[in-house]
Amino acid sequence: MKPIAFHAVGKSFGATHALCDFSLEIPGGAFCVLIGPSGCGKSTALRMINAMILPDQGRVTVGGEDVARLDPVEHRRHIGYVIQSVGLFPHWTVAQNIAAVPRLLGWSKPKQADRVEEMAGLLGIEPALLERYPHELSGGQQQRAGVARALAADPEIILMDEPFAALDPTSRATLQAELERIHARSGKTIVFVTHDMDEALRLATQMVVMDRGHLVQSGAPIEILRHPANSLVGAFLGGGSIHMRLLDRLAVRERSTPRRTGATGAIAAGASLRQALDLMLATGSTRLAVVDEDGTWRGEIHIGDIIAGGEAGTSDASA
Ligand SMILES: Nc1ncnc2c1ncn2[C@@H]1O[C@H](COP(=O)(O)OP(=O)(O)OP(=O)(O)O)[C@@H](O)[C@H]1O
Ligand SMILES: [Mg+2]
Repeated sequence: MKPIAFHAVGKSFGATHALCDFSLEIPGGAFCVLIGPSGCGKSTALRMINAMILPDQGRVTVGGEDVARLDPVEHRRHIGYVIQSVGLFPHWTVAQNIAAVPRLLGWSKPKQADRVEEMAGLLGIEPALLERYPHELSGGQQQRAGVARALAADPEIILMDEPFAALDPTSRATLQAELERIHARSGKTIVFVTHDMDEALRLATQMVVMDRGHLVQSGAPIEILRHPANSLVGAFLGGGSIHMRLLDRLAVRERSTPRRTGATGAIAAGASLRQALDLMLATGSTRLAVVDEDGTWRGEIHIGDIIAGGEAGTSDASA
């Protein structure tokens, strides 16, 4: 798994400094999410990884090799890329779009067809859509096709620029879960741009907060929630909602204790503290039994464990 690194990268478009002294290491196998206000340089950074934009200063390396020295066409064949505006080839059917890179790589026709079918199944693209052209699809269907195309040749690195922006919340959640599974199973390196903080917190193993071309903070989502580097990050994380978001990221098992006080209702140990709180609010019960996946009793969680023990934002009562 090749690491990706930005070494003091600078890039200007005329008077606009899209990236300034930008350094970042993305370990191989990471799910790295770039987040920040519009115009902060997310897409620019992403497009440097596949050499669509080259730095004015500094270097971008993939597997230790300077991207600027690689043959860009060859380099891009090993990188899946979903662009912000989908970018399907308009005169090709969905099936042809999905098979684009496998065809370039010289796969046999049956192998291409199998792969198209597999990708369509994975992303919930109905078979009837495969023979259509992009303009005959809805925005969300186009996005699924764009993701299918990026994954089709099984690339080591996948770059995704707001790939789910046009999807309704349910489809979005489904595709997020699918992408999480693909990442966990394949160990691919994914670099993903989004405006959606909940999406970032859900997917990222490494979250990178950017502002006006600068890297403001990089780390695991839970660490950024607990210790926002400055007020900008705090505000971007949702200001007052930061505590609820932290509850979203913490599992019930982290706060449950093995006591029996006659709790009513039960919740899975792997559920989030927020789900526990939701269940308490819905049922009026302030104490829940905590069970493992196989139904084994583990203990209880009380509302006080969530609120007092939760120490959302202030951190390390647990440490
Ligand atoms: N080709 C270009 N020519 C001129 N300016 C550009 C070009 N590409 C990007 N920029 C500018 O560089 C800055 C960073 O752009 P970039 O597309 O990386 O932002 P972004 O964080 O992806 O924003 P968004 O969230 O809106 O997609 C912006 O101010 C943008 O206007
Ligand atoms: Mg962008």
